[in-house]
Amino acid sequence: MKTAVQFFALRTLVRGYALLGDPYAGVMASPPDRDPYPMYEKVRAKGDMVRSRMGAYVTPSREICDSVLRDNRFVVATFDEASMVPITLVQDGEKVVNPVQDSFLMKNPPDHTRLRKLAQPFFTPRALKERTESIRKIVTDHLDRLGTRFDVVTEFASQVPIQVIADLLGVPDGHRETFARWGSALAETLDGVWSKKQLDNLHATIVEYNDFIDTLIAERRKNPQDDIVSHLVTQHEDLSREDLVATTGLLLFAGFETTVNLISNGVLKAFENPHTVAPLAQSPEYAEGFVEEVLRLDPPVQYTIRWPKERLELAGVSLPQGMPVMLMLAAANRDPRVFENPAEFDPTRSNAREHLAFSAGIHYCIGAGLSRIEGAIALHELFKRFPGLAPDGPVARRKSKLIRGALRLPVRANETKRSLAVKPG
Ligand code: HEM
Repeated sequence: MKTAVQFFALRTLVRGYALLGDPYAGVMASPPDRDPYPMYEKVRAKGDMVRSRMGAYVTPSREICDSVLRDNRFVVATFDEASMVPITLVQDGEKVVNPVQDSFLMKNPPDHTRLRKLAQPFFTPRALKERTESIRKIVTDHLDRLGTRFDVVTEFASQVPIQVIADLLGVPDGHRETFARWGSALAETLDGVWSKKQLDNLHATIVEYNDFIDTLIAERRKNPQDDIVSHLVTQHEDLSREDLVATTGLLLFAGFETTVNLISNGVLKAFENPHTVAPLAQSPEYAEGFVEEVLRLDPPVQYTIRWPKERLELAGVSLPQGMPVMLMLAAANRDPRVFENPAEFDPTRSNAREHLAFSAGIHYCIGAGLSRIEGAIALHELFKRFPGLAPDGPVARRKSKLIRGALRLPVRANETKRSLAVKPG
């Protein structure tokens, strides 16, 4: 088990390297309220494959990111494999399943292929089409509950995706606040565990989650409904408890911890670009392009990492086996070789969909279609209902460097058109 001293040493080391301009440490140590994009541009200025003193390479190139994600010589690694000391929790001799670390997001073929296939049927274009009207109802019901001053994140952006994914999984009402708390604890640790407190919080969260999902699984075995948990327990009886708990947990947490940020980043982009508000409120098609451009310019998932499973050549660099490559998705989305005027927010951009916000290759986000629908409906309906929506206080940012979004975004719903705009950040 890591001690407080080891955590302190790790934080000090990373901060030290960041001060020396190291690209990997720079990402890891950047304060949550600092705009990360100028730092990504500094990395880009150094080249397509930038060596970090922390034993990694960093790439801001869209072409290299895309090719690594599609190359089966690169694999994903669990936190335990990637960090210096194991952080898996064992309780009473049994492993407590971590819904992110033990899920197929962190697995390689053949396990990845086997488990991903189980979830796929719920995310086909047809399945999503059938869900669209219920998503719209969830959005408008939440809008009905809002007053004239509210917090976009806690009262709207997080509520919608939590309810959508809870319905899909078959989680009874009344757990939203708990999910939001668990989701934040998990999301905070996605880019590493940096303190003993964080580790203890993570462990407490996954123990609580294991207890919760075990109860739900037992209930659905007895009384199956039309939902993912029931489908998995009745149609895939040979699935191990670990795979079942991890797969449902991944869908639950990946399903809302990302989409909430898409919605809040979208609201911020609308405030920064007031000319987009009227078309966003009027046109569902414009809202789709708007969401795509938010995903490109300010993606909720900023980077991912892959490890070469053998020595190989990449973009003129010889990579030893196991040398991590940080793929800066958010920087790739601003690659000037692919996107004209890359820092400009243009919801009518014709090639915005070339962004890597949902990754690429075998781990391409299974919920991409669902979150596109949720994001477009939520932003369109929000500004249709409140065309004069305006910022009403400072924005608090999430602590994670991997997940980018607001923690709090106070707004007021003015009757008349808003004239305030917020600075990019
Ligand atoms: C804006 C919202 C979302 C963003 C930006 C996002 C982003 C991503 C990214 C970047 C990955 C791949 C990570 C990697 O390659 O290392 C991923 C994977 C995944 N996402 Fe999403 N996601 C979003 C919404 C959702 C939703 C709504 C769901 C489910 C309901 C979901 C479920 C998953 C799953 C299960 C994986 C693992 C896929 C695999 O490993 O094969 N995501 N997501």
